[in-house]
Amino acid sequence: MQDSFKRQIDYLRISITDRCSLKCIYCSPDKKPEYFKQSEILTADEIIRFVRIASKHGLMKVRLTGGEPLMRKDLLSIISGIKKIGIRDLSLTTNGLMLAEMAGALKKAGLNRVNISLDTLDPDRYFAMTQGGDIRRVWEAIEEAKKAGLNPVKLNVVPIRGINDDEVVKFASLTFDNDYHVRFIELMPAGEDRAWKKKACVKKPELIEKISELGELILLEFKGKGPSRNYRLKGAKGIIGFISPISDCFCDYCNRLRLTAQGKIRPCLFSDIEIDIKTPMRNGISDEILEKLFLSAVAVKPAGHYLDDSKPFKGIPAMSKIGG
Ligand code: 5AD
Repeated sequence: MQDSFKRQIDYLRISITDRCSLKCIYCSPDKKPEYFKQSEILTADEIIRFVRIASKHGLMKVRLTGGEPLMRKDLLSIISGIKKIGIRDLSLTTNGLMLAEMAGALKKAGLNRVNISLDTLDPDRYFAMTQGGDIRRVWEAIEEAKKAGLNPVKLNVVPIRGINDDEVVKFASLTFDNDYHVRFIELMPAGEDRAWKKKACVKKPELIEKISELGELILLEFKGKGPSRNYRLKGAKGIIGFISPISDCFCDYCNRLRLTAQGKIRPCLFSDIEIDIKTPMRNGISDEILEKLFLSAVAVKPAGHYLDDSKPFKGIPAMSKIGG
């Protein structure tokens, strides 16, 4: 399925809840979070129905996000329902706090792999950055995810200047002995009340310079899809990826749509365009009309996000609201 700019759209990210057990400084709003009501959020059946319709048009990859997806009680039925449709690559992004106990069941239900958010290796700093998290739970989760076969385990790291940017080299060196994918994600302007502090965003060239002190960083072949540019340190088991929306715009290769927890298709993270599917679904629309709505969302996907340094940008709602 191609959009108006001849990009192949085969990846859907679904936020299944806006609730999260943590309040990471870059992700959740400053003030006390106001969560959506249960009735405002898509049900498992609605999510699965939408994926079924989208899968008729070449959808290959689905990622469940949040909030924290593991906080959703019916997560296993969402996973097995999506897997039964025939989605080859079904993954999930989690903070890892509840993953150790659930890893085996998630795999059994049909989940292929996980991304775990981990922005620091220091327990006290982790507690501060997440506003309350226990890093030991995350390490247990990483081990259990590997054991359960949710591979490759990817670690999402958002380096923020003055907060955790002194740990970039330590994170990169984890890949020598472990086959993790460590993914450095540039800080994006999200969160209702927060001004985007451009200086806080540590960009890819600076990260590469720092990491290069560990040895040669070899660029891996780019398969022409998705935002991550992957490298391997010479002799390392794992991979280092960079997701660089600010310094290295990847919109030309964007292959994704988002579905928010409230049931709106968001064709581009950084555009306000949203297509509501929840209201029409609850009003009893046919699969044909739902399919038309889906295709109309693909058709209006913008060319790019214009997040470069040259123009002012007002930011987007907190990621916990639209799906991190
Ligand atoms: N900038 C960059 N990445 C973010 N995430 C959430 N908020 C932001 C932001 N402002 C991503 C992180 C996290 C995942 C849940 O969402 O990668 O691991």
